[in-house]
Amino acid sequence: MKTSPAKMLVTAFLTSLVAFSLLSPPVLAESRKAVNKTLSKPVVRGGIVFKNYCKLCHGERGDGMARAAKLYSMANLAISPGTPDYYFKIIRGGGKAVKKSEFMPPWEAELSEEQINDVVAYLQIVTSGSSRGEVVFKTNCILCHGIKADGKGRAAKMYDPPPANLTKSDKNDDYKTLIITLGGKAMGRSEFMPPWGDQLTDQEITDVVAYLQTMLIHE
Ligand code: HEC
Ligand code: HEC
Repeated sequence: MKTSPAKMLVTAFLTSLVAFSLLSPPVLAESRKAVNKTLSKPVVRGGIVFKNYCKLCHGERGDGMARAAKLYSMANLAISPGTPDYYFKIIRGGGKAVKKSEFMPPWEAELSEEQINDVVAYLQIVTSGSSRGEVVFKTNCILCHGIKADGKGRAAKMYDPPPANLTKSDKNDDYKTLIITLGGKAMGRSEFMPPWGDQLTDQEITDVVAYLQTMLIHE
C-alpha cells in the first residue's frame, strides 16, 4: 500500500508531537541545568552589572549596538576580546588608563572589586563567539545532539537516521551554517533536524558553528 505524502507528514508530525510531550519536562530541566552550569554565578552577576552600568554605551552584549553609540561616534563601542588584565585596567581606571577614549569612565569608585571581577567574567563570555555559541548549543541542541555534541541526546533514540555526532562531523562550516539555518529537509537529509533560521539570529548561528569547531575530535 502506498502512503500519501500528506499522510506521512501528518504521521511524522504526530510522532514528533508525542515524542516532545513525553520528553519535554526532563529535557527542559536538563537544558536549564546545562545553561545554568554554563552561566555559573559570577557570569550571571556580571551580566546584571553590565546591564545596569555598561549597556547604555556598549549595547546589550557589548557589541556596540547601543542608543548612545551615536553620541560617541568617534569611538568604536564594541568590546573586543581581551585579557582579564586589560579589562580590569580599563574598567577600574577608565579609557585614559589604557590611552583610549576618556568617554569610557573609570568605575573603581562606583563598583566593588567583586562586581568588577564579575563583569570581567561576563565580558570574557560575550566577546568570545564560541562561548556564546556554547550557550546557544546548550539551550537548543542537546535534546538531540547531546551535551557532548556526540549525538547522544535524550531524544536521540527516536530518530532514524540518528542526530549527527557533531564531534566527528566531516562537514565544513559553510555546510553546517546552511543545515542549521534551513534544516535537514532542505538539504536532502532528515526532516528531524529542525530549521533554526527563524529562531536564531545569524550571529547566533555563526557562534554555534564556532562552538562546534571547538568540539571536533581529531583522530
Ligand atoms: C558613557 C559611555 C560608556 C559607559 C557607560 C561604559 N563605557 Fe566602556 N567604553 C566607552 C568608550 C568611549 C570606550 C573606548 C572606545 C575606544 O576608545 O576605542 C570604552 C571602552 C571599553 C572597553 C575596552 C574595549 C576594547 O575593545 O578595547 C571595555 C572593556 C569597557 N569599555 C568596559 C566597560 C564596562 C564593563 C562598563 C560598565 C561597568 C563600561 N565600559 C561602561 C564608553 C562607555
Ligand atoms: C529534534 C532533534 C534535533 C535537534 C533539536 C537538533 N538537531 Fe541537528 N540533527 C538532527 C538529526 C536527526 C540530524 C541528522 C540528519 C541526517 O543525517 O539526515 C542532524 C544533523 C545536524 C548537523 C549535520 C552534521 C553533519 O555532520 O552532517 C548539524 C551541523 C546539526 N544537526 C546541528 C544542530 C544544531 C547546531 C542544533 C541546535 C541549534 C541542532 N542540530 C538541533 C536532529 C536535531
